[in-house]
Amino acid sequence: RIPEPCALVIFGVTGDLSRKKLIPAVYDLANRGLLPPGFVVLGFARRDWGDGDFESLALEAAKKGARTPWREDVWQRLASQFQFVPGSFDDDAAFDSLAETLDDLRERNGIPGNAAFYFSIPPAAFPLVLNQLARTGMADNAKSGGWRRVVVEKPFGNDLQSAISLNQLVDEVFTPQDVYRIDHYLGKETVQNILALRFANSLFEPVWNSKYVDSVQITMAEDVGIGTRAAFYDASGAARDVLQNHLLQLLALVAMEEPTSFDPNDVRAEKLKVLKAIAIPKDVATGSVRGQYLPGWVAGERAVGYLEEKNIPPDSTTETYAAVRLGIQNRRWAEVPFYVRVGKRMPRRVTEIAILFKRAPHLPFDPADVEMLGNNQLVLRVQPDEGVVLKFGSKVPGTTMEVRDIAMDFQYGEAFTESSPEAYERLVLDVLVGDRTLFPDAAEIEQSWQVIDPLEAAWADTTPEPYRAGEWGPRASDEMLGREGRAWRRA
Ligand code: BG6
Repeated sequence: RIPEPCALVIFGVTGDLSRKKLIPAVYDLANRGLLPPGFVVLGFARRDWGDGDFESLALEAAKKGARTPWREDVWQRLASQFQFVPGSFDDDAAFDSLAETLDDLRERNGIPGNAAFYFSIPPAAFPLVLNQLARTGMADNAKSGGWRRVVVEKPFGNDLQSAISLNQLVDEVFTPQDVYRIDHYLGKETVQNILALRFANSLFEPVWNSKYVDSVQITMAEDVGIGTRAAFYDASGAARDVLQNHLLQLLALVAMEEPTSFDPNDVRAEKLKVLKAIAIPKDVATGSVRGQYLPGWVAGERAVGYLEEKNIPPDSTTETYAAVRLGIQNRRWAEVPFYVRVGKRMPRRVTEIAILFKRAPHLPFDPADVEMLGNNQLVLRVQPDEGVVLKFGSKVPGTTMEVRDIAMDFQYGEAFTESSPEAYERLVLDVLVGDRTLFPDAAEIEQSWQVIDPLEAAWADTTPEPYRAGEWGPRASDEMLGREGRAWRRA
């Protein structure tokens, strides 16, 4: 899968995402020999810079973030094709110059007009840049003589209405099949493995339903706080930041029906169906919890509270933790709760999906012998320690019939010699080769907002529950499961 000769235009190239993810991803792709000859990166940002400044930023970013070993010759070849275009998003001249640069490339590098525009910019700037691309004809496939694609980072809107408007706007400027909406969780190997595990095996699917499954827990815990993204985060909160996208995508992959094929449209159709079946709790007050971190200690280091973070208003009621009990209204999942939680400043970074099975209908054991036996569990560990764990009871060696939970452990590091590409590496390559399988479409995104909007509305005048940085969220979250005779898994 090597793309045709093309240019990658990164808007907001000096920003966090570009430095941490995109530039390293481009280097790794080059290092693996997956980029075409004449591949060009055009960086666009509001800095009074030349190509040399851009190259030094990119060098630092690539060295820091690359997954593959450093090879100076690969870097030199790649960096010789980096160009910087200075300008702000309302600067017509800068966009005219970008258009000219793309035209020049066609002659100089023989790139047949192919370009992908990556929006690594605040959502408020999307319309401005889209209009510039339309005005200059840069979004026009026919005019370019090749393909023109656009990659839009999340957050895709901040509610259903804004997502619909944004979708309309993007689809007016680009042909809908040239729009790539990124949810980088779908680029993770372990996330792609969910469908492989479910549909390439005969073992799991027969028990993957309400007859055998007691409940599902999806956890995305991060030890970090909000970093330098105060303005964005405070306006969003945990639910808009990751529940609306990453977590609902995970849920969809776990709960969806088998797709007819792995054709992008077939997979999306099944995801959309299950997203439509999601029900938020009837009583949001008892079926969900919002939290906000207080000062505390995370991994031996002192962490300030959310309200003391730089540029956060001292009376902010934004949540840094959210837990919610979702239902799925279809035959397969009737009455099975999907508990989803996400939080910043948790004790450690872990994302996992745990399928908790019902207890055996009958236990012909002395009750004292099965005290250490819990629910059978299948845990899909998304990150870190990528793998799958199956927990079940086993006889404890000795003269009694005592049964205790043990774990069967599949770890990527041990099972495979192949290294996993970083999510962005995979997704950038997919954009360049034109593979849309791992990109959610407009309908999925809008449907996800239909889940989040009523939750946000119910939370509107509530204050988040405090939890200490370094704890697993507010006590109310444990109580929420406790009331239903369950507990969060120790992730
Ligand atoms: C981003 C969120 O989408 O995902 C961040 O905006 C979060 O708040 C990040 O930290 C987590 O990504 P990953 O790949 O490190 O789990």
